[in-house]
Amino acid sequence: MWLLKLSFFALIALVGLWLGCAILCIFLARTRGASLFTVNWLVNRIHRRHVEEAIRVHSDGRMLDIGCGVSPFATVLQTYSDTLTNLEFDRHRSVAVSPDIWGSGLALPFRGKSFDTVVSFQVLEHIPRPAKMVEEIWRVLVPGGLLILTAPHIWGIHEEPNDYFRFTGYGLRQLAEDAGLKVVSVQPLAGYWVTTAARHCHYLQQFEKIGLALLMRPLYALIQLVGLLLDRIHRVESDAWNFILIAERPQSS
Ligand SMILES: C[S@@+](CC[C@H](N)C(=O)[O-])C[C@H]1O[C@@H](n2cnc3c(N)ncnc32)[C@H](O)[C@@H]1O
Repeated sequence: MWLLKLSFFALIALVGLWLGCAILCIFLARTRGASLFTVNWLVNRIHRRHVEEAIRVHSDGRMLDIGCGVSPFATVLQTYSDTLTNLEFDRHRSVAVSPDIWGSGLALPFRGKSFDTVVSFQVLEHIPRPAKMVEEIWRVLVPGGLLILTAPHIWGIHEEPNDYFRFTGYGLRQLAEDAGLKVVSVQPLAGYWVTTAARHCHYLQQFEKIGLALLMRPLYALIQLVGLLLDRIHRVESDAWNFILIAERPQSS
């Protein structure tokens, strides 16, 4: 009998905890948008940390952001540059963005040696000829200028059908060197556990469509926190979801 009672109270406590999380997640969604209870919170947080650190340390002068999207890093990019030029590709596809200039990473609409820093975040996988875009970046950088670029290694297909490639750290290094850039660093962003947590949350997101959002969101929080913790304990970088490349156009070129 006592076991039945205990199970009953445990069940009530669990439901209460879940409901509490659901209410907290609705509150956070209203006040802050993205939170622990939203898909991609963990990977966006890690990506932002690495990007902001790279910009703080490496960028200055005239800056170009290729494939800026909704410019999630605009504030920090502006802080660490003299001028920021946001470039986007297709005005019909990207209706919600307002770049400074429309153009393609495959044929940048600028003269050679126009920028001190070029950044491009999560764009290279959407370029049908990525080597050509890296060559274009080399062309518009001044000698001594820097490229900061992030690209996915393990991630689901998105922005279909314009999603062509995934990159290892070695692949990014090769692309940069082939274009004449000198690699400063190539770094994985987290490892297996973060990748797994992110992919699990993506999988579960489909159940929101059938009215299970309040059930899923506390699960996102749990999965992402466990992913973050396990990644700190054992980081398996060969399964990183993303890489960041920093490369320089040599002074002598
Ligand atoms: C995943 S989004 C990333 C947006 C933004 N950089 C960010 O971090 O949120 C990929 C972006 O690449 C842009 N893109 C696709 N093809 C491109 C091309 N040929 N030249 C420049 N940008 C392109 C898309 O329009 C889209 O905004």
